[in-house]
Amino acid sequence: MTPIDISHLQTELSGKNPRVILKKALELFDNIAISFSGAEDVILIDMAVQIRKDISVFSLDTGRLHPETYRFIEKVRKFYNIDIELLTPDRIALDSFVKTKGLFSFYDDGHHECCGIRKVEPLKRKLVTLDAWITGQRKDQSPDTRHDIAEVETDTAFSTAEHALHKFNPLLNWSSEQVWDYIEAYQVPYNELHEKGFISIGCEPCTRAVLPNQHERAGRWWWEDSSKKECGLHAGNIKK
Ligand code: ADX
Ligand code: SF4
Repeated sequence: MTPIDISHLQTELSGKNPRVILKKALELFDNIAISFSGAEDVILIDMAVQIRKDISVFSLDTGRLHPETYRFIEKVRKFYNIDIELLTPDRIALDSFVKTKGLFSFYDDGHHECCGIRKVEPLKRKLVTLDAWITGQRKDQSPDTRHDIAEVETDTAFSTAEHALHKFNPLLNWSSEQVWDYIEAYQVPYNELHEKGFISIGCEPCTRAVLPNQHERAGRWWWEDSSKKECGLHAGNIKK
């Protein structure tokens, strides 16, 4: 594959709508996958299957997701007739962590250690096999950490000296309202937790419903400072 001129590509995709960004990503990379969280970013799948039937999708199964999220992942798998690869934590690392720190250590000393084992390490294992990944990150999800994300970026957190990894964020400029307009207009399946006041959905112990007019990420790791609310999947955001 010829090397990609990322700044040229970013200029070309700047301000384009999600479908155009996705189409370009799928044209440029065969070895690319959607990172699906079991929440509203299902619309990436909805758009992608219309461009390429055999799209690869993976989800990080931390072992701590809500039952509703597991049901939703299955619903999406059947609805689109696609495989969704579930990535699980390393058993030895997880056993040792739980044995020493228990099941809720994140309330005492922060979420990074648990997220590191349950999310980041399995993601790392997957990303070394890919040339590019697609995420559902949006700028308005977090003014503190996502304001500067781009349509396409070199993934500074997961690229290695031998292997450059590209990251596409097709929904970056969409608001939550646009996402929900799409879900309604195209009758896209959604996680039933959204009917119970949940907006941004992660693991069960670290996610709660939000009140009217509260910011959507107020329900994630609510006991921590908002500038630290990245779990390591998008660690590159924190440095900016
Ligand atoms: S998180 O880093 O704070 O958990 P968030 O829930 O906002 O992320 O989701 C942003 C994007 O990260 C999602 O659209 C998805 O692409 C990816 N993502 C988050 N959680 C997961 C997960 N469990 N499995 C796969 N991808 C995920
Ligand atoms: Fe662990 Fe919470 Fe991170 Fe899930 S979100 S991996 S339960 S700290």
